[in-house]
Amino acid sequence: MIWSGFSVALCYITLLLCVFLMIVFNDPYGWKSYFQEELSSFFSICVCSLLLFAIVFYYYYIEDREFISKPKNVFLIFLNMVISVAFCYIFGRYIGIYIRPMAMFALICLFLFGRRQAIMLNFVFSLLMFTIDTYSNNFEASGATNAVYISLVLAFVCGTFAIFLAGNVKTRGGLLFTGVVLSVPTAVVLLLLELPEMNYEQFNWINYVAPGSYAILGCIISAVLALAMLPFYEALFNRLTVFRLRELTSANAPLLQRLRTEAPGTFNHSLIVAQLAESCAIAIGENAELARAAAYYHDVGKLKQPDCFTENQTGYNVHDELTPELSADIIRSHAKDGYDLLTAAHLPKAIADVAREHHGTLPIKYFYDKAMRLSGGDANIKDYSYLGPTPSSKIAAIIMIADASEASSRVLRDRSPENVERVVRSIIEERMDLDQFTDCNITMRELTVIKQTIVDALSGVHHHRVKYPAIRFNRAHEAVKEDLGEEDDAKS
Ligand SMILES: [Fe+2]
Ligand SMILES: [Fe+2]
Repeated sequence: MIWSGFSVALCYITLLLCVFLMIVFNDPYGWKSYFQEELSSFFSICVCSLLLFAIVFYYYYIEDREFISKPKNVFLIFLNMVISVAFCYIFGRYIGIYIRPMAMFALICLFLFGRRQAIMLNFVFSLLMFTIDTYSNNFEASGATNAVYISLVLAFVCGTFAIFLAGNVKTRGGLLFTGVVLSVPTAVVLLLLELPEMNYEQFNWINYVAPGSYAILGCIISAVLALAMLPFYEALFNRLTVFRLRELTSANAPLLQRLRTEAPGTFNHSLIVAQLAESCAIAIGENAELARAAAYYHDVGKLKQPDCFTENQTGYNVHDELTPELSADIIRSHAKDGYDLLTAAHLPKAIADVAREHHGTLPIKYFYDKAMRLSGGDANIKDYSYLGPTPSSKIAAIIMIADASEASSRVLRDRSPENVERVVRSIIEERMDLDQFTDCNITMRELTVIKQTIVDALSGVHHHRVKYPAIRFNRAHEAVKEDLGEEDDAKS
């Protein structure tokens, strides 16, 4: 916590330095005059900014102490704030006060930290901009003008609308569209704010059209700048946004391409696990995009020796020639190998953690049983168990259950919902008995919801279909009897 306090102080000094430089170099009366006459204004900016920084720190101290205790997160919040202030200041100073990209900060916060934090941070940001406008000489020599007050309301309204409008946006194109839609409420609010100031006797359209056009442009620029800045924050702070998660699960993702070509069985298994994990995450209110991405990559460690895993074998089984100890060692190493591979490829830690934790410390039953038979009951269960750790997040727990459920349901002859339910229940109960969920805060109610979601989804995947008649049509459109034998059954 001391380091995060130190980080806040560092960011505060950086912000003041930026503001000072911007004000002094842009002061219409020259920097010498600012030093002589307006230094008290800068002191006011220092005090007000300090109060606003303290509000942000105190908010996180109460709401999410773990988050703010990491200096990296402090830097992310305040770096975003400093850069957004700089953009707004430059646009306001050189083009016009209404064209400032006031929604940019709110949009970036939404995708980096979520809706709740974005609303609070946008509120603070609007006040910070108002403070700088009021105590700088760039808009009016004697303090805030009407435009500065309107700008404060616009910043708050524009940012808040942006947060709600972009709440469900999942693509970069969608974010750009939000900027366009956002211009509608912004233009309406601006018009309402300008109404009391209208001079009907000397009415001049240009006085109202220009600010309106600027405000609309400001919304679009906000979306464009947010789009441009998000990859920078994603890369620099290894943050997860819905856009990055989408990119990681796209067909072009290098590790997924390797999985599809080198381990097709594992790739297909991962697709079904991803489907199950996404449904479960939605059902218990977790991040569905993250669950899907983590499921795609959970078995990526199998790339090291794909042929050693049943789903990629087409007849020859290498384990027939290996001792059970060696086989178990190969099997259990895929969790750690996956973690190493994902970390080396700079994938987000949340995804790498799932790869390492998705088998927890569970025993590898098949090889333990084989060792017991071969040694006459002299085998240590620890030598035939995964190395862990156990799931540390609800998403890791979901993937642990979905993974085992998918694999078990594949070999079921009777795939009725009742039988699938029996299998999934036994999987969850076994993991509870073996203390696999003690580190992930998952509740009994959530486990019940996960079980039901998986049963519904797997019953849908393996639903019963009518048996097709064994006929095919020839060129003359005549039905010809066809002997499909066992194949016919497999198609249905
Ligand atoms: Fe696995
Ligand atoms: Fe798996």
